[in-house]
Parts: sequence; C-alpha cells; structure tokens
Amino acid sequence: MSTPEDLRRHAPATQRNRAPILDVLRTYFQTTRRVLEIASGTGEHAVYFGSHLPHLDWQTSDLDPTARASIQAWLQDADIPNVHPPLALDVCKLPWPVRDLDAIVCINMIHIAPWAACEALFQGASQSLSPDGWLYLYGPFKRHGEHTAPSNEAFDQSLQQRDSAWGVRDLDQQIAPLAQQSGFCDPIVVSMPANNLSVLWRKNNPHEHFSSP
Ligand SMILES: C[S@@+](CC[C@H](N)C(=O)[O-])C[C@H]1O[C@@H](n2cnc3c(N)ncnc32)[C@H](O)[C@@H]1O
Repeated sequence: MSTPEDLRRHAPATQRNRAPILDVLRTYFQTTRRVLEIASGTGEHAVYFGSHLPHLDWQTSDLDPTARASIQAWLQDADIPNVHPPLALDVCKLPWPVRDLDAIVCINMIHIAPWAACEALFQGASQSLSPDGWLYLYGPFKRHGEHTAPSNEAFDQSLQQRDSAWGVRDLDQQIAPLAQQSGFCDPIVVSMPANNLSVLWRKNNPHEHFSSP
C-alpha cells in the first residue's frame, strides 16, 4: 500500500527569519485581528506566526497551486484554528476578495515578481485595509538608489538573470512614491538580520501610536 504523498514544502530561509519577524509583529500587531498574508509560500511562516500570536486571525494565500497544497498540508499537520486554508490570490487581480483587514503581510515577494505586482500590492492593500490597517513588507531593499550590502547586490543580479522583470526594489525611489500615491503615510523601517528590512505602512500616522524600537 502506498503512503500518502507529503505535500509540505520547506524554505530554509523561513527558519532563519521567522523569529526576528515575529518580534516585529508582536510589537506592532498588538491590537490587530484580521490578517491577510500575501504569497504565503510553503506555509511555514503562517504556522509559526499563527501559533505564537493566537490573537491574530490569519488568512493565508498564494498564486501558486503547489504552494497552496503545501500551506494546506502544513495546516492539517499543525491544527491551528486561527490560521485559515489558502485563498488562490494573485495580487495583480484586483479587487481582492477580502475587505476590512487590519493587516496585510507580504514576505519576500516583491523582488521575485514583476514591478506590476508591487504596484498591485499597494493598490489592493489600499482597497482592502481598514482605515488604521497595516501593510507589512519584509525583504531586501535598496536605499536611495544604492544596495545596502554586497550580498544584496549579488542577489539582485541573480534575480535579474533568472527573470529580467525581477529585482531588489528601492524603498526610497520606487516604493515610497507608490505608497504615497496609494494613501499611506511615511513608513516605520526596522533593520533585520542579513541586510533585510521590515517596513510597515499605515494609512493613518503610525508614529502617533508607536515609536520605532
Ligand atoms: C520567495 S517566495 C516567498 C514565500 C514566503 N512568503 C516566504 O517568505 O517563504 C515568493 C512567493 O510569491 C508568490 N507570488 C509570486 N507572484 C505572486 C502574485 N502575483 N500574487 C501572489 N503571490 C505571488 C509565489 O508563488 C511564491 O510563493
């Protein structure tokens, strides 16, 4: 008799970045409830964040059916009632089938997708977040036209070799104008290990509620 196929996928980076990201979410998502995770990938982040932050109602999603099967398999294994099976959500297909969200979390996607996906992410977030809602991005970013580390520059080159539409985005020159056009205030920027950043935008001024740690 054949054993059932294990559809759970593993992304080693999630083991390294999940604890520092959890610290940021714990700090800023204290009163947050409804979260949509865009590009949940393997599902390992959702299981980890959902189990450590049980006050969050965490909706997973991904464009890719293989990713969605992995997310589903991780969820079945973990049995975490506040984390929900994945939506088939392509950020570029607007409007998204979700409204009145308190937060949108998008980890390591905007550099592994065309720029149009980043534009759609901000437009969709603007439509789907409640007035005080957070948009949280994590990943590598350029600052003021420059890479912040040689490793990020090498990563950027490798991305563009894989797909010329991919690449590390510039927080100040590309994303800040887009965020402003989409109705978000200046972001909170948190330095993370391995030359990554956490960036949090809110439609209302986040600095009225929190000071950067
Ligand atoms: C590098 S993986 C990151 C996955 C996960 N967030 C993590 O940190 O492990 C990029 C993910 O973005 C998803 N993705 C790419 N383009 C997308 C789009 N237009 N809409 C939604 N998800 C997308 C891919 O399917 C993939 O799961």
